[in-house]
Amino acid sequence: MSYLTIAMPKGRIFHEAVDLLRKSNYQLPPEFDESRKLIIEIEEEQLRFILAKPMDVPTYVEYGVADLGIAGKDVMLEEERDVYELLDLKISPCYLAVAGLPDTKMNEVAPKIATKYPRVASSYFREQGEQVEIIKLNGSIELAPIIGLADRIVDIVSTGRTLKENGLVEYEHIVDITSRLIVNPVSYRMKNERIQELVDRLNDVILEKQ
Ligand code: PRP
Repeated sequence: MSYLTIAMPKGRIFHEAVDLLRKSNYQLPPEFDESRKLIIEIEEEQLRFILAKPMDVPTYVEYGVADLGIAGKDVMLEEERDVYELLDLKISPCYLAVAGLPDTKMNEVAPKIATKYPRVASSYFREQGEQVEIIKLNGSIELAPIIGLADRIVDIVSTGRTLKENGLVEYEHIVDITSRLIVNPVSYRMKNERIQELVDRLNDVILEKQ
C-alpha cells in the first residue's frame, strides 16, 4: 500500500475535518490536533497530511504534491484550480454575502468592494450589471466599510457575529458554502481504489448525519 497525501486547511475547518476522519474510523493520534508540524505521517493508516493555508489547498492538489485536499467551496470558486470535487463533506457551513454599513447606498461611480475573494466578487457584480472597483484584502474585511475604505464587502458569514459586532448589515446573499473533498485527476486514476475507500468511509458518516 502506498501513502495517500491529504492537504488539510489550517484554521476553522481543521477540527471538523479531523473529527469527520476519526468518525470514518481513521486512527489519528491525539497530538494531531495540537501539533505545529506541517507534515504529519500516520504510518498505520498509510496517510500523510500536509497542513496548508485554506486558500492554498487546491494549489497543492492541482500540482499533485497532495493527492487529495479539503477545501471550502469559497476557495474552490475563487481559485478555479484543475482538480475534481469528489464529495460535499457538509462541514463548516457558511455563505458568501455582500455586506456594508446600514442604510447606505453604494457610490454611483465605481463603488469600492473590499474582499478576500476578488474573482468571486467581480463575477458576482458583473452578473448584476454593476461596475465596481475590487480592493483585495487578506483578512479583517469588516474593517473596510467602517473606516471608509470600501462601500461594501464580499465576505464569509458563518454565525453573523462579526457583522453584528461591527455594526454591519447583510445586503445580498451570494452562495452557500460547505467544505469539499477534492482530488488530483492523475491521483484519482492511479490510486483509485484507496481513494474510493476513503470516499465511501466518509460518505457513510456524512449520510448517517442527515
Ligand atoms: C471569517 C470571515 C468573517 C468571519 C465570519 O473570518 O472573513 O470575518 O469569519 O464569521 P461569523 O459570521 O461567525 O462572525 P476569519 O475569522 O476566518 O478571519 P479573517 O478575518 O482573517 O478572514
